[in-house]
Amino acid sequence: MTTAPKINIQAPKGKLAILTPGMGAVATTLFAGVEAVKKGIALPVGSYTQLGKIRLGKRTENRTKLVKDLVPLAGLEQVVFGGWDIFPENAYEAASHAKVLEKDLLEQLKEPLSKIKPMAAVFDRDYVKRLDGPHVKKGKTKMDLADQLRQDIKTFMKDNGCDRAVMVWCASTEVYTPPSEVHSSLKKFEEGLRNNDASISPSQIYTYAALKERVPYANGSPNVSVEMPCIQELAAEMKTPICGSDFKTGQTFLKTVIAPGLRNRQLGVAGWYSTNILGNRDGEVLDDPGSFKSKEVTKSGVLSDIFDANLYPELYSNISHVVRINYYPPRGDNKEGWDNIDIFGWLGYPMQIKVNFLCRDSILAAPIVLDLALFMDLAGRAGMSGIQEWLSFYFKMPITKAGLKPEHDLSVQLLKLENTLRFFTNEELINHLGLTYYGVNEGEA
Ligand SMILES: NC(=O)c1ccc[n+]([C@@H]2O[C@H](COP(=O)([O-])OP(=O)(O)OC[C@H]3O[C@@H](n4cnc5c(N)ncnc54)[C@H](O)[C@@H]3O)[C@@H](O)[C@H]2O)c1
Repeated sequence: MTTAPKINIQAPKGKLAILTPGMGAVATTLFAGVEAVKKGIALPVGSYTQLGKIRLGKRTENRTKLVKDLVPLAGLEQVVFGGWDIFPENAYEAASHAKVLEKDLLEQLKEPLSKIKPMAAVFDRDYVKRLDGPHVKKGKTKMDLADQLRQDIKTFMKDNGCDRAVMVWCASTEVYTPPSEVHSSLKKFEEGLRNNDASISPSQIYTYAALKERVPYANGSPNVSVEMPCIQELAAEMKTPICGSDFKTGQTFLKTVIAPGLRNRQLGVAGWYSTNILGNRDGEVLDDPGSFKSKEVTKSGVLSDIFDANLYPELYSNISHVVRINYYPPRGDNKEGWDNIDIFGWLGYPMQIKVNFLCRDSILAAPIVLDLALFMDLAGRAGMSGIQEWLSFYFKMPITKAGLKPEHDLSVQLLKLENTLRFFTNEELINHLGLTYYGVNEGEA
């Protein structure tokens, strides 16, 4: 058995507010999905917290539990949804516009969805060039806006009788802006908020507000926020969990399945060409080069980390990696992605792999938001704070402590997630050694 100290996890009593900056395609598909599951008219497919099972103990014990029976997660009936958007439409109207779910299904969920009305957003067109909307807060300074968000959180929790809250960023991708001097410490960041520093983006203001309220924060977009020193300092100070960045849903999800496999078999890669067509609002926002740059950073980092050219110069020093997203309205939320992978094998002989993924963006993303919300709430109740690397499983660009490389291999990420859940519940950590040595039979591991 593990010798680690027993973690004391508070029971998930009362209601949990899941707050999403952004009530667009992803967020409303989540809200609708949870309502449909609660009504018993759909299954939470794709959600590890709802359907996942975990092996416990030695293989000979034949012990497997549903994840939600192992760790004390909030139940779906305890969840209350809230959010912010630059458009005042309620979740039913927003979901109807997003056209992800069928009308018939939405009609059955009209009542609970219509009740979810967005709070006015903190928004700046300099950061999202292709959008503009009327439902936006006014404030003299960015600190003033952060204070308004903090008040929103408090009011929402009071009005809905919530005991705890988590925030998951589901709003648009902002123009890429690398961290600067103002992000280097919490003191400088707070000064910047008071002085309206132009390099502080709206998503950073939401992150700040959440953490100041001790609300765990997950970043579902590639926006620069949780990786910044000032935010990590604040998360430590407020003893609150953070994680990110950018939900790993479609093409990158498959990359982190295929690429580790190729590398593990010591196969070489000459090039990886990825292109997508996408017609939803996210696609429209990403049509702006500044916002696309943010996506390009998270999408590209995956392969350069997995195919480490320093470790394997013969196999990966000359990879041509191209990523494109083309806005193509007829497809709506139904993204189509193509990957062409030029690989080489024994004696350098070339081969090709083609992947054509006809996916549904928000259908893949919604269960990830649910899992992140429930696990971040669990982390908070378990007394965890700062970067939650065990949730790397869900992100294109998992944040890590300074100086550490992220783990991108999906199966290694799952191992880390599972062992963290075992650790939380004082179950034996599994290393899959399964070795017989010196007469000691560890073959059951
Ligand atoms: N669907 C996926 O597979 C996937 C995968 C990875 C990341 N993401 C990210 O998730 C986010 C949401 O995607 P989506 O498809 O729902 O997009 P969407 O455009 O349908 O929804 C985003 C919503 O955010 C609102 N918004 C923009 N700026 C805001 C602000 N500052 N405050 C509050 N609301 C704001 C918009 O009005 C819009 O309603 C995007 O950043 C996207 O890149 C999605």
